[in-house]
Amino acid sequence: MTKRFYITTPIYYPSAQLHLGHAYTTVIADVLARYKKTQSYEVFFLTGSDEHGQKIAKKANENKQTPQKFVDNIVVSFKNLWAKLNIDYDKFIRTTDKNHITTVQKIFSKLLKQDDIYLGKYEGLYCVSCEEFLTDNQINKTNNTCKTCQGSVNSLSEPSYFLKLGKYTKQLLDYYNKHPLFLWPLNRKTEMINNFITPGLEELSITRTSFDWGIPVLEDPKYVVYVWIDALSNYLTALGYLQENDINFKKFWLDGNCEIVNLVGKEISRFHMIYWPILLMALKLRQPNRILAHGWIINEEGKMSKSKGNVIDPLILVNRYGADSLRFFLMKEITIGHDAKYSHQLFLNCYNSYLVNDLGNLLSRTVTMISKYCDGKIPKINLNKLQPEATAIIKNIKSTIIDFNIEMGEYQINEAINIVFRLITAGNKLIDLSKPWDLYNNNKIMELHNVLNLLANILITSSALLSPILVSSSLKIHQQLGVFKITTPVVTINLNEIFNRTINKKELLFPRLNIEDELIFLNNAFK
Ligand code: MSP
Repeated sequence: MTKRFYITTPIYYPSAQLHLGHAYTTVIADVLARYKKTQSYEVFFLTGSDEHGQKIAKKANENKQTPQKFVDNIVVSFKNLWAKLNIDYDKFIRTTDKNHITTVQKIFSKLLKQDDIYLGKYEGLYCVSCEEFLTDNQINKTNNTCKTCQGSVNSLSEPSYFLKLGKYTKQLLDYYNKHPLFLWPLNRKTEMINNFITPGLEELSITRTSFDWGIPVLEDPKYVVYVWIDALSNYLTALGYLQENDINFKKFWLDGNCEIVNLVGKEISRFHMIYWPILLMALKLRQPNRILAHGWIINEEGKMSKSKGNVIDPLILVNRYGADSLRFFLMKEITIGHDAKYSHQLFLNCYNSYLVNDLGNLLSRTVTMISKYCDGKIPKINLNKLQPEATAIIKNIKSTIIDFNIEMGEYQINEAINIVFRLITAGNKLIDLSKPWDLYNNNKIMELHNVLNLLANILITSSALLSPILVSSSLKIHQQLGVFKITTPVVTINLNEIFNRTINKKELLFPRLNIEDELIFLNNAFK
């Protein structure tokens, strides 16, 4: 049976260039998608842009451009960033794509026909920056601003179509109960229940009339579909739902065994953990397996966001340090579900500590010693004559593979990375303890060969496991050890498979950074 995996990122607003927070989400999705491919899953990885709504219309107007022209330019920069970060998506959906537009109209018509939608009048508060209708507890009462983005809040009063959320409250709570891992982390579920569901779900206004940059309702074209209903539908429309070519919809949604993960930032949990499941219930479609909400990248001023003007442009980091370094930092230093701080110092320290001191050091020591003591050929391990340290390392390699896969299966990328780095540290310790130079000088050749073979195997295994994160460096590590293709899935090890490979030292993979110099560079670049 084909194993399938469907992963999505939020579709980002092309209201400005993307920043490190957006890159963070997309890298998580890319790493999980690449990991599942190593496990022989058929994968569909979706990202894209959320192009309608009042916020975009307003921005385009400020820039004296039509909304379409405005978003077209910004979307080019999105795609460019993803290419630079080695993001290997299967589809980039734009909500201005014709197929998306007509399908959203069909979805609306279907819900209207089924009596899930009715016409009424919306009166209440709205945050244009979040494109969100706000409840009382989402507003700072002192200065009438939105608690999420600190932006100003507008009063709205306009006729509107509403989606009957109340009708689905019980079904939603039952679903939460029966599927305890559906919403993750668990504190988000508590938040949804306490803040929004228990007080009573208000019916959701799903159209707007005061501007026209959106998808017109076929039955009543003076209304456009509320941008969040338009946006959430992308996870279905991108697969061909209600379209002639719906092969991907069949494979990645209707196939009940397909593992579906919607990755979101925590501030958009309400949309994905309440409205989205209800929309699916109304459409009589299955739910995703996991709505995975990650935390925020923060710095001194709090959440990194366009509206606060405290954003880090990931391109500057990628251009100077390479995609792998940034991907690694984001995946190693942030626990999914928790907020995490970004500072240049933290980024540089992470690079020097793990990529230079641990991984890079193990690689260059291993490659140098194999050149020097074994004529540049990976030596054979003698499994009948193993020292206790060697036996321990073999056990360690095997358990690393198992534990790494367990963590990745639970989307715990940083824990999975930590497991690999424990093995890398064990490799460096093995060098310090066994002192291969002494073994060579004392003519303890078999022992020397055992150690060097194991070091090479630690590197092969570690870099194969890390390949979804260190996309290009892991291949380079293999190449330096004379292996030109990464074999996955990493299930077990055959230590002598790499016997006699010719090592190939070409470049210092992770040159050490002078932190002071780099801080000067970065502080100037981000001025
Ligand atoms: N268009 C909506 C999403 C619709 S999905 C059906 C939207 N777009 S957004 O451009 O504002 O992007 C929000 C997403 O960007 C967050 O959910 C999160 O994934 C990411 N991040 C934005 N700022 C972030 C941080 N400071 N830290 C981490 N992620 C952040 O909301």
